[in-house]
Amino acid sequence: MCGIVGIASKNNCIDNILSGLYSLEYRGYDSSGLATIKNNHFEYSKNIGKISNLQKSVKNNKLTGNVVIAHTRWATHGKPSIKNCHPFIKDNCVLVHNGIIENYTDLINYYSIKQKNIKSDTDTEIIAEIYNKLLNEFNNPIEAIKNLNKKIVGSFSFAFLVHGSKSIYVTRRGSPLVLGSGEGFNAVSSDVLGLPDNTKEIIFLEENDIAEVNDSSILIYDKNQIIKREKHKFIPKKEFKVKGNYKHFMEKEIFHQPISIEDTILNFADKKRKVVYLPKTNIKFNEFSNIIIVACGTAYHSCMVAKYWIEEMTDFNVSIDIASEYRYRKNKVNKNSFGIVVSQSGETMDTLKCLNKFKKNNIFTISIVNVLNSSIARLSDFILPTLAGPEIGVASTKAFTSQLSVLALFVLNLQQGSKNINKIFFNSIFSIHKSVKEILKKENEFKKIAKKLVDTKSIFYIGRGAMYPIALEGALKLKEITYKHCEGYAAGELKHGPLALIENNIPVIVLAPFDENYSKLLSNIQEVKARGGRIIMITDRDGAKKVKKYCDQIVIIPKTNFLTSPILYSIPVQLIAYYLAVFLGTDVDQPRNLAKSVTVE
Ligand code: F6R
Repeated sequence: MCGIVGIASKNNCIDNILSGLYSLEYRGYDSSGLATIKNNHFEYSKNIGKISNLQKSVKNNKLTGNVVIAHTRWATHGKPSIKNCHPFIKDNCVLVHNGIIENYTDLINYYSIKQKNIKSDTDTEIIAEIYNKLLNEFNNPIEAIKNLNKKIVGSFSFAFLVHGSKSIYVTRRGSPLVLGSGEGFNAVSSDVLGLPDNTKEIIFLEENDIAEVNDSSILIYDKNQIIKREKHKFIPKKEFKVKGNYKHFMEKEIFHQPISIEDTILNFADKKRKVVYLPKTNIKFNEFSNIIIVACGTAYHSCMVAKYWIEEMTDFNVSIDIASEYRYRKNKVNKNSFGIVVSQSGETMDTLKCLNKFKKNNIFTISIVNVLNSSIARLSDFILPTLAGPEIGVASTKAFTSQLSVLALFVLNLQQGSKNINKIFFNSIFSIHKSVKEILKKENEFKKIAKKLVDTKSIFYIGRGAMYPIALEGALKLKEITYKHCEGYAAGELKHGPLALIENNIPVIVLAPFDENYSKLLSNIQEVKARGGRIIMITDRDGAKKVKKYCDQIVIIPKTNFLTSPILYSIPVQLIAYYLAVFLGTDVDQPRNLAKSVTVE
């Protein structure tokens, strides 16, 4: 899918523009280009193929610039070629565009565009030509955009340079754009990842917004007036590599989750229109019937959750597998399938081998990864990044909730256009970060739980439905960093064996949102209680009303739903593991015998 980067800076910003384009490579592209305005004339470079080709052209042309717009093109109208490559330069303006203009032939007639002025096969050049005309007519870049937007049918995000101005003018409809500001510059990008690393604040533009961005200010207009949009903090990569005020990276990473979850969601979804925008691909997911998802460890737990979501919310058949098992099995891969691999590091050997296996079977592959230049990212056909930022603690926390967030959006995307779409799920995904914040404020309650676990020999997590994978994740987290024995079970399985281990005072942590599984879970709680087990309950207000009498400890967290509960209930299990490890004095960030990136078999 196409990508846009633009920077208006007090200094030459070509290097930041190029590194922004490199960060957008994951979206897939076939050509790229950039343009700047200098002494009131436009200069540009374009090239087909890799961004390194563009970089060479920029170097050969000795191109520098303080106000630059750039683009990676993924061909829709016209094949990959220099003539079809953005930016499009006209007398008064330069344009880069993401999206598709559906009525461009009507626009040619409406604005009496002369065929001889159109040199490319693209819909974008028509818009550049029209905007050029409108600038002559209105003599005001913003008014010209307002007028242009009224006539367009389709999806777009545009970035223009305009003759006589040192600003970048942008607008969007149905295609995302984010603005970034930093010391001495402001920037625009189709994706948070394209913004310079020294960006400080970001603003997600809303539908039909228009913005004027120069080196010292950003002005945003809706239809009639200048408006303010919510600002979000941008965290540069280097900040992830220091502990700051936290004792451990894991603690910092747990507390970063309101931001990492929100960033991951807003990167792919529009809050106002309640739409998911995944990068474009020539594959139509809904033409398939099977999904195969593989991963290892914590990432595998996110796949388990996704299975519950996909089965409940779509008509796909979904199979999930632990990568180290899938790669050696004789699996039958149906041509009606596509494959997804999930990996924080993007280097896990078993997961990588499964990706190879998918490729050998000629099925389309999607990777959900946190490290964009990793082997898995490079090998897959389509990348959906988790925007968790670098994760340093060996035990995965924020990468896991970002994996869940991307998978939730992917499932909502599969539903898009069908009647099954559930508005409540859509709304809840946009407010999940607030609930995560509320849970984090209860840190002392989780500390109290952890304190009471210090002397136990064994701990159990139980849950039903999509809480079962979270029970497994809670047990894994606890084992990894506290070295205590901990098991996660589907609550209904207790009576088939593990109940034999329940004796006086054995702690059983129950993940119990008040949902359709709740009453069944109550029976399981009683089974434990009857054998002397100690019940520690994580639930919501409604859930708490019914069980207080059985519980030794209870923490109430915000009410949630089927889609968002696995994300929310991940936070308590991380905090319990973390505080218990701190009480026990283990090496939280680098637990014994474990590595962050498992590149061996
Ligand atoms: C547990 C943990 C591991 C990883 C697993 C896969 O906290 O971090 O279980 O989830 O090794 O690693 P990635 O996601 O890098 O493929």
